[in-house]
Amino acid sequence: MKIVSQIKEPVNHEMELFEEKFRDAMSSKVALLNRITYYIVNRKGKQMRPMFVFLTAKMLNNGKVNERTYRGASVIELIHTATLVHDDVVDESNKRRGFFSINALWKNKIAVLVGDYLLSKGLLLSIDNEDFDLLKIISVAVREMSEGELLQIEKARRLDITEEVYYNIIRQKTATLIAACCSLGACSVQPKSPDVETFRKFGELCGMAFQIKDDLFDYGEDKIGKPTGIDIKEQKMTLPLIHTLNICSKKDKKWLINSVKNHNKDKKRVKEVIAFVKDNGGLDYAVQKMLQFKEEALKLLSTYPESEYRNSLELMVNYVVDRKK
Ligand code: IPE
Ligand code: IPE
Ligand code: MG
Ligand code: MG
Repeated sequence: MKIVSQIKEPVNHEMELFEEKFRDAMSSKVALLNRITYYIVNRKGKQMRPMFVFLTAKMLNNGKVNERTYRGASVIELIHTATLVHDDVVDESNKRRGFFSINALWKNKIAVLVGDYLLSKGLLLSIDNEDFDLLKIISVAVREMSEGELLQIEKARRLDITEEVYYNIIRQKTATLIAACCSLGACSVQPKSPDVETFRKFGELCGMAFQIKDDLFDYGEDKIGKPTGIDIKEQKMTLPLIHTLNICSKKDKKWLINSVKNHNKDKKRVKEVIAFVKDNGGLDYAVQKMLQFKEEALKLLSTYPESEYRNSLELMVNYVVDRKK
C-alpha cells in the first residue's frame, strides 16, 4: 500500500466527511468568490494538517472524534489555504499544487481579498459554534504565522540571519500551525488534559522538520507542484545557505552575500550559489538537523501506548522528511 494511504487508513472515514464539510465551509454568495474557491478545492494539497488533527484526537480518545474535531480540522485547513494564497502574493510565486496560483490567474488584488475571506470564514466557523478554546489555539497560530513571515522579510532585507533566528522564523511561520493541529485535535476530545500541551510540542517538532524539508526542496529540481530555486531570488536565506555562510572563508562569504544582495534575479548566479551550497555540505547539514527534529518527535510519541493511530502518526513523522512533494 502507498505510504499516504497507509497513514490515512485509520481516519479514512473522518477524512471523507471532512472534505465535504471543508467544501461547504468555503461557499459564498458572491459568484466570483465561488469560482475561485471551486478552483481551490479541486486542487487539494496533501491534507496533512487535518490528518494530524484526526489522528491525534482518535489516538487520545479511544478512536472517537466529535463535531468539534471536524470543525477544528476545517478551520485549520481554511487558514492554511488562506496563508498559501497570501504567501504566493508575498513570494511572487506563480505556481501552487501543480497549477497556477491564485495571484497568477486573478492578480494580487483578488488573491489578497480571497485570503482574507478564507481566514475570516475559518475564524467564524469556530465562533459560530462557540468553540472558544479551539479558537484560542488557532488565533495564536494565526498571529505567529504573520509575525514569522514578517520576521523573514525583515531578515531578507538585512541579510543577517543566524541559525537561531532561522529556527524562530520557521517555528512561527510553519511549525505553529502544525502544533495547533495536534493540540486542537487533543483539545477537541480532552479539553483539560495535559496531552493538549504535549501534542502541541509534538506538532511543533514535526513542523520544524516539515519546513526544513520544504526549504530543501527549493534547492532541488524535482517537480513538487510549485517553483524551486525561488528562495534566493526572494532573498530568503534558509538553513543550507546559513550553514554554508557560517563555515566558508571570508572571501566566499562576501561573494555569497553579494550574490544574494545584488544578483538574486540573475538565474545563472543563483545556480552558482546553489551549487556552492551543495558542494560545501549545506544540504547535508540541513538534512541532519531535520532528522534531529524528527527523532525528537518520535521520542515524544513513544511515551504513549501503541495503537493503530500512534502507528500512523509515526508513519506521518517519517513522511514529513521522506515525502517527494
Ligand atoms: C506548504 O504546505 C506551505 C509550507 C508551510 C511549507 P504543504 O506542503 O502542506 O501544502 P499543501 O497543502 O500540501 O499544498
Ligand atoms: C511557508 O513558507 C509559507 C507559509 C507559512 C504559508 P514558503 O514560502 O517556503 O512556502 P512555499 O514553499 O511557498 O509553500
Ligand atoms: Mg512561498
Ligand atoms: Mg518553500
